[in-house]
Amino acid sequence: MGVFASTDDPGATGHEQVVFCQDKQSGLKAIIGIYSTALGPALGGTRCYPYASEEAALADVLDLSRGMAYKNALAGLDHGGGKAVIWGDPDQVKSEALLRAYGRFVQSLGGRYYTACDVGTYVADMDVVARETRYVTGRSVEHGGAGDSSVLTAWGVFQGMRAAAEHVWGSPTLRGRRVGVAGLGKVGKHLTGHLIEDGAEVVATDVDPRALEWARVHHPGVDLVADVSALVAADIDVYAPCALGGALDDDTVPALRAKVVAGGANNQLAHPGIEKLLADRGVLYAPDYVVNAGGVIQVADEIDGFNFERAKLRATRIYDTTRQILRLADDEGVPPAVAADRLAERRMADVGRLRTIHLR
Ligand SMILES: NC(=O)c1ccc[n+]([C@@H]2O[C@H](COP(=O)([O-])OP(=O)(O)OC[C@H]3O[C@@H](n4cnc5c(N)ncnc54)[C@H](O)[C@@H]3O)[C@@H](O)[C@H]2O)c1
Repeated sequence: MGVFASTDDPGATGHEQVVFCQDKQSGLKAIIGIYSTALGPALGGTRCYPYASEEAALADVLDLSRGMAYKNALAGLDHGGGKAVIWGDPDQVKSEALLRAYGRFVQSLGGRYYTACDVGTYVADMDVVARETRYVTGRSVEHGGAGDSSVLTAWGVFQGMRAAAEHVWGSPTLRGRRVGVAGLGKVGKHLTGHLIEDGAEVVATDVDPRALEWARVHHPGVDLVADVSALVAADIDVYAPCALGGALDDDTVPALRAKVVAGGANNQLAHPGIEKLLADRGVLYAPDYVVNAGGVIQVADEIDGFNFERAKLRATRIYDTTRQILRLADDEGVPPAVAADRLAERRMADVGRLRTIHLR
């Protein structure tokens, strides 16, 4: 895989900038990937993960930063796509020195990249990173940040699901539908609340007994099933993956009884081609990066001083965006995932082009 776009290397990723950062004393090994700044400074979280190799870390950051460009474009943000990875086990490598060293590398990019939390990093870590750089968001409430982003992520997923329900059943509500929630974590819990309030029946599963206990206490009407396979095979109208990536694979899709898939998990399609398999089975897939953009909307809002109502309004618009994508998919005869990519690329080209108008 090459980073530089070239006609000789069809596997080239076409990223603008990839920065390798090392601080031997603290043990920092990080890679920052900037896919595009066509719409504004790149924005995306920092993942801390014990990758098997440097190649695996690089592949992940290239993939994730590209994904952020598409997500930010469709969320209507003035941000390009970026992401960073810190190579190491978060429980072992994260220290004040390492996080601050990382912060200095982020600062060295002069605002071309804003960082935030991702898998393995938390708001408290961003507070440490912020001691060395201005270009960090997703901070704790005590430090003027917006705190936990799962609130608006779940709200946005619910909006996307409403748009999908309207597309399939004619009305933007989940009332009377059975929704299967896989993963009752931060996003899954909030989503369950919205669904019940809307009049849906919820079927759910989680590997963590504490999450199941939460459901028994707070929503005793939720039907708990043994695992994701049981959930997928259950008589549900909507499947909401809210745990890990790769939820839609060659085993899951043929077993799925739901007519709609809309959930918070990132990277739900296990490999290219799954979107076609879903479409062929008559399952409407609301693309993950469209419906789960509430979190990045929240951290983007925080950059200029967080206002919850303003951010919520923007996350509510995920309903309109999902609707637009589903209509475009029908008009152009392509799966929604393809329509979403086209719409994102259109915005990056149309709005990104305006930067060629010279300003003094
Ligand atoms: N939190 C956000 O703002 C946000 C934003 C965008 C996307 N996402 C994505 O949404 C998903 C959920 O995020 P979260 O913040 O709720 O994470 P979380 O860690 O709080 O919750 C994940 C839940 O899934 C459960 N789980 C893991 N493996 C499972 C399995 N095999 N079967 C059933 N349950 C399983 C875990 O026990 C946990 O309760 C992730 O894919 C995340 O990347 C989150």
